[in-house]
This record gives sequence, C-alpha cells and structure tokens, in this order.
Amino acid sequence: MARLLILGNAREILAGEPPVGAVDEVHDLGALLASLDGTGPVLVIADPERLQAEQSGFEAWLAAGGGMQAVLMAATDPADGDQVLRRFPFVHDLVPRPVTPGHLQLKLERALESIRSARVIRQLEQKVARKTGELSELNKIGVALSAERDIDKLLKLILQKSREITGADAGSLYLVEHGPEHDAVRDDLLRFKLAQNDSVAVFFEEFTIRLDETSIAGYAALSGRPLNVADAYDLPSGSPYRVSRTFDEQSGYRTRSMLVVPMRDHENAVIGVVQLINKKRHFGTVLKPVSVVEEEVVPFTSVDEELAGSLASQAAVAFENAKLLRDIRNLFDRFVHAAVSAIEQRDVTTRGHSERVAILTVGLARRVDAVAGGALGPVRFTPDEMREIEYAALLHDFGKVGVREKVLLKEKKLLGSHLSAIRHRFAYIGQSLENERLRARIERIEAGRGDAAELAAIDAASAGKQREVEAVLQAVLTANEPSVVEAESERALRALRDLPTRPGDGWEHADQLSLEEWARGPYLSMGEVDALSVRRGSLTDDERLQIQSHVEETYRFLARIPWTGEFRNVPDIAYAHHEKLDGSGYPRRLSGMDGIPVQSRMMTISDIYDALVAQDRPYKRAVAPEVALGYLADDVKRGKLDAALFAVFHEARIWDDPEFKKRIERSRRR
Ligand SMILES: [Fe+2]
Ligand SMILES: [Fe+2]
Repeated sequence: MARLLILGNAREILAGEPPVGAVDEVHDLGALLASLDGTGPVLVIADPERLQAEQSGFEAWLAAGGGMQAVLMAATDPADGDQVLRRFPFVHDLVPRPVTPGHLQLKLERALESIRSARVIRQLEQKVARKTGELSELNKIGVALSAERDIDKLLKLILQKSREITGADAGSLYLVEHGPEHDAVRDDLLRFKLAQNDSVAVFFEEFTIRLDETSIAGYAALSGRPLNVADAYDLPSGSPYRVSRTFDEQSGYRTRSMLVVPMRDHENAVIGVVQLINKKRHFGTVLKPVSVVEEEVVPFTSVDEELAGSLASQAAVAFENAKLLRDIRNLFDRFVHAAVSAIEQRDVTTRGHSERVAILTVGLARRVDAVAGGALGPVRFTPDEMREIEYAALLHDFGKVGVREKVLLKEKKLLGSHLSAIRHRFAYIGQSLENERLRARIERIEAGRGDAAELAAIDAASAGKQREVEAVLQAVLTANEPSVVEAESERALRALRDLPTRPGDGWEHADQLSLEEWARGPYLSMGEVDALSVRRGSLTDDERLQIQSHVEETYRFLARIPWTGEFRNVPDIAYAHHEKLDGSGYPRRLSGMDGIPVQSRMMTISDIYDALVAQDRPYKRAVAPEVALGYLADDVKRGKLDAALFAVFHEARIWDDPEFKKRIERSRRR
C-alpha cells in the first residue's frame, strides 16, 4: 500500500483523529520532496491553499516525473470541486474533505495502482525512445556506409561505428577469403584487415589465418552467430576457440569483454567478422593503466548484440556494393585501355598519343583544381570527374579506327601510288623528249641538212626541255614534303603554280589519261598541284575532312557505351576536343566558354601540344616544347584557346615532371 503524506494540516483535512505514526504532515514543497525517500509510492493529499502558494513549483515537479513517486490529490469541499480542478489542472484527483478512513483506504490503493501504471508507461516510453534513437543512429550509419565507395575507408568506418554504437574500446575486422577447392574442401582464410584501439597504439600489419574454429573470429564466421564473451581470459569450458594473448603481452593491454559478430551479405553468406573488445561504461575513458579495465570494462549486452548484428549486415551489403563498383570500374578501365590499344594498332604512327594526352590533361586538371582565385577559382574536380577526364582523353581519338588507312597514315602530300605514277610519267616524258631529239636529228641528216651547228642546236633545245622537265619533277618532290611552314617548299610551290596544268576535277580523271597525252604537257593536273599546294601538313581538303570525321566517330562510339552515372560526360568531353573558342573548330563549330566544356578545353591544349612535340609523326618534324608553347600562345592570342588554362599549362610544365616521364614509360611497356 502507498504511504500517506498530508500537505497542510492533517486535522483539518482528515475526518476524525489521524492514526498515530501512519500520517506524515508537511507544509511546503521543499519539505514534501525531502520526505520522499524513494522507497515506495506515496499519496499526497494537499490543502488547495498550499498548492496555491507554490503552484509553479508543483507543476514543475510533476512535469519532471514527480508522478512516478507520488499521486497528488487536492482535498476540497464537495461544492468547490470544479473550481479547484480549474485552478490546479495538474492534480491527479480530488478527495472530498474531511477525508474519511474508508475513502482514504480506497484512495491509497488507487494511488498505488496509478503509480505502478505510470512507471510501466514511463519504462515503455523510455524503451521506445531508446529504440527510436538506436534506429535513427543505425539509419545514419547505414547512409554513411552506403555513401562510402572507397573500400579501405568503408572498412574503417564499419569498425569505428560498430565500436561507437556498442561503446567498445577496441576492435578488429576480418574478411573471409575463399581459397581454391580441392577434394570438395575449400581452404578458406580470414584476412586480418583492420585494428583499432583507443587506449594503446596498435602496430598493424595485414595477415591471414585459416578459417577454422580455433580462433574466436573463425568460430563466429563458421557458426554464423554472434559470440558474446564476458572475459577473454576465462572462456566457457569446452570452447573450441581461444583468444591469443600476444597483443596484450606486447602492448600491456588487457582484453576482457568481447563481442564477435559475423557480417552477412544479401545472400546471407558470411563475408567477414567484426570483433569488438572491452565495452566501457563511459566511451571516452582510456583504459590505462591496465587496472582501469577492472572498474571500467563491462560485458556486452544483448542490446549490443542486436545493434552490432544489424550494423554488421548493413556493413556487409555496403562492402559488397563497394566491391561491385570497384569491379565495374576495373572493367571500364580495362575496356578503355583495350580500346586505346585498338586505335594504336591501327595508327602506329601516333602510338602513345592517347596516353600522353590523358596524362597531360589529368595533370592540368589537378593544377587547375588547386587554383584558388581568378577565373579558374571555382573550377573543382572530384576524383570521379578526374577519372572521367582521363577516360575521355584516352578515347578522344578512338574514331580514327573508322578513317581509311592510306589517309590516316599519309606521310607526304601525294599518296605513294600517286607519286610513283608521276615518277613514271616524268620518266616517260624524259624518254619522249629524247626520242624527239633523235627523230629530229635523223630527219635532218636524211634531208642532207645535218651539219654540226644544226644538230648542236637540236641537242641544246632538247637539253633545255629536259632540264625544264627535271625542274618540274624536282619541284614536285620538294613540294611533296609535308611541313608546317617551310620556305623551300613554298618556293617550289610557286614554281608549280606558274606552270600550266591540266583541268579536270579529280584523281580519277587524271588516271584516265595515257602517258602520250601527259607527255604533250602540261605535265601536272590541277588536282596534283592542289594536293601539293597544302600549306600545313600533308592532307588535301577532302582528306582533312575524312580525318576530321574521327570526332563524330568517337562520339558515336562513346555514346553507345553504357557509362555509369559518374562517367556520363565522357562522350561529350571527347566530342569537343577539336572545338575552338572562336568557333573555328570542328565538327560542331562550338564557341565560347559556355559552349565548350572546361574538360574539353584542357584536352584541346594537351592534344595540340602533344601532336606538335611528338617524335613519331612521319608527316612532320617534332618541335621543341618551347616552340610548341609558342604555337599554342599564338592560338591563345587569336582567341582559339582558353588563356587561363594555357597559363596554368605553361606554368605547370607537366612534361618535365619526373612522374609524367615515369608514367609515359609505363604506358609504353603496356
Ligand atoms: Fe582528335
Ligand atoms: Fe588527338
């Protein structure tokens, strides 16, 4: 039964004489609280005047949980009941005064009942609040785990969060590794992957142990159930596992309570084990000296088992996802490099170009990412975006696989077959001239006019013509050499252009002419002179268009690949690698900073630079880095290239970086 406390004068409240010793009388809230010793439920019958005197104090006391210990009733005259309830809405009930013994008895029993119910409700509420708290904490952890894609960081996070949620001082994490199967038995291993300890320094090195029941982690992995050990030095008798004390002996630590939880993936297979060590009363305490372990370390609870268990299964799924993602990335990576080697098989002359452009562009992106202010200040790249840039750069010229080989590999302004046709033609023309000379001599001699002076004039005229023809051939050969700008071929070209040429609009037309017709002159067709008139490189307009089509091809190819979300811009970045800020690029003639992605603008600079300095292009001489930078600077001045990006490129001199050289070396060996 509940104890009775009268707040006010007992004689005025109770009917008749109160039983001696059974009633405590207090006169204010302070005295009331002091007399609540917490041993049992109490019924307080209060004089409304006393409640009035300290109304806010009573309200606060009840709001803070006073009702767990005491039931507060106001003693009123029956006629005042409603008014008292209005004034003191916080009281639990009213009793008519004077309170008779029978009434008191009933109220005491009810008070006991009410306090019991209030306590049960409070406990339930607390349980619900704790569960809600745990669930939201688990949820938060789940979100953090699924956001982490770096496997090593993820494993650290799993162990850290498992320790935090259970209050464990230390912990380790093991992963199951499946060994080869022989005789239907698999030699599985447990890889000791990670260790954390808040009290002593851990020297950590990964190693593997056999997955069997002799280790506590192995036992948990094989049984698939959590293992809760109160003292690692006092294992239950008959336990197949043991706990190594080597670490404790070397570090002066003391492993006591342990909770070992298997990590199960979505198929319920155990993929690892989280081992939690020494649950502390207070998570912040450092277990040093070792005697602190005695007072501070307690066994893990069933709630810990539950929490660590559900965290471990979330962790397993996050780990599997991260691994899957890594596998997909590896797959992309291998695919991209295989594609690069396919381009280079096709176009051996530019071998290594894609790799170099990728290394230069990523190197430039890193420098740009570090720029703090100015136009490039806001430009930042995540690791995924860096990888995206690398893939786009590696594949930027992939479309060259669709360009005809003779155009792709064209070294001189004339294709090899055309040049040999011209050589034959000129040999024939030379021979024809010689025949003409001989015929003229014979005619003269037969006509009896073959005196020495006449014959010498024929010879001289013929020799003059021969020289003329040879000069034309020489001019063709000189002009045929590709070059960026060269005075010699320029002169040769001028000489060719002054000659009459055969009209006709294509090589096919020229091929149809017989040698006799060619010998009558002019010796060159308009098409040939046009081909030789190319001022930069070796390609005619038509051939240039064919080569330029590689950009569209690259885009078509890349757009068909189902890139994962973080690489979705690869096709667009590569698509714009020949565009120029002033709209003079191709194929879409994009213009302006908004029209061309910054990644592509960086790639354009790297691409041009590498094409200029590359040693391996047959149709042009490699230029020194300073000369290449000069050409790029000209393009910047003409508004074609991004000035801010070029300034970083110029300053960074990535090609001088030993790391750059090492990577180029490595890619050559690949
Ligand atoms: Fe290209
Ligand atoms: Fe390129």
